[in-house]
Amino acid sequence: MKKTTKVAALVLAAAMMMTACGGNADQAADTGAAADATNADAANTDNEAGADAEQSASVTKTEGVITFGTNAEFPPFEFVASNGVIDQYDGIDMAIAKQIAEDNGMTAAVENMEFDSLLIALQNGQIDAAIAGMTVTEERLESVDFSTPYYTATQVMIVKEDSDIATAADMADKKICVVQGYTGEICVQDLGYPYEAFKKGTEAVMELVNGKCDVVVIDSATAQKYVSDNEGLKIVEDSETFESEEYAIAVRKGNTELLDMINKAVEAKLADGTISDLGVKYTEETTEE
Ligand code: ARG
Repeated sequence: MKKTTKVAALVLAAAMMMTACGGNADQAADTGAAADATNADAANTDNEAGADAEQSASVTKTEGVITFGTNAEFPPFEFVASNGVIDQYDGIDMAIAKQIAEDNGMTAAVENMEFDSLLIALQNGQIDAAIAGMTVTEERLESVDFSTPYYTATQVMIVKEDSDIATAADMADKKICVVQGYTGEICVQDLGYPYEAFKKGTEAVMELVNGKCDVVVIDSATAQKYVSDNEGLKIVEDSETFESEEYAIAVRKGNTELLDMINKAVEAKLADGTISDLGVKYTEETTEE
């Protein structure tokens, strides 16, 4: 019980930190609602702990295997490579997934799908966990539980080198591109600006490169990767508008056994520096400049 409460507290703390973009009155109200929901979840989780014995056989859909869902379109966290850490899948998240499985004497499998499908696949039981550079948000906390956060990111703006965009407010009369279902889309929505949403980050960036849009709003580390891969682009930050976001691993609500396994591994890898080393490794590997 104690552990559940601690995890719930961590998730709650994460939720309070993460109000996607800048703090306005609406968001303060939302945070309150999320806090209530999280407390209610903690209570549910406690009740389910009684069913532990029966559940232990079904911690994961396949015994001895943790099936992770991802969307391998998000370097340096997940991308397709000729020789990845799990099958053809490589990146920071894939290395973390593999280690979580190994730490628990299991193996890791990956199912690659659209980012928008991950939470549904989790609820359906198609995957055991989702690891996809996924930001903890109040809305997502309503349908899944999140692990201890393992990475802090922020939204940034990718623009052409000669762009006059210097702050988020400068996007007001510009053509904005985002990726569908990403927190970047939510941020631009919150700002109230019109935008066009693409299925993949690379598509949004191509639109920018080809002069069909003026700015792409996307997560910082992925933006770095796109800027180093494409000439003539730069990153503009606006930390007053874009608050920090935390990436965490999602599990089905109430699957405390798997969540505990994941949290123990994540916390150990955070403490011994493995995760920060992976960050450095994959940022260097995927950056050619
Ligand atoms: N951090 C953003 C979010 O949670 C984008 C994540 C995109 N991840 C991916 N694997 N495509 O919405």
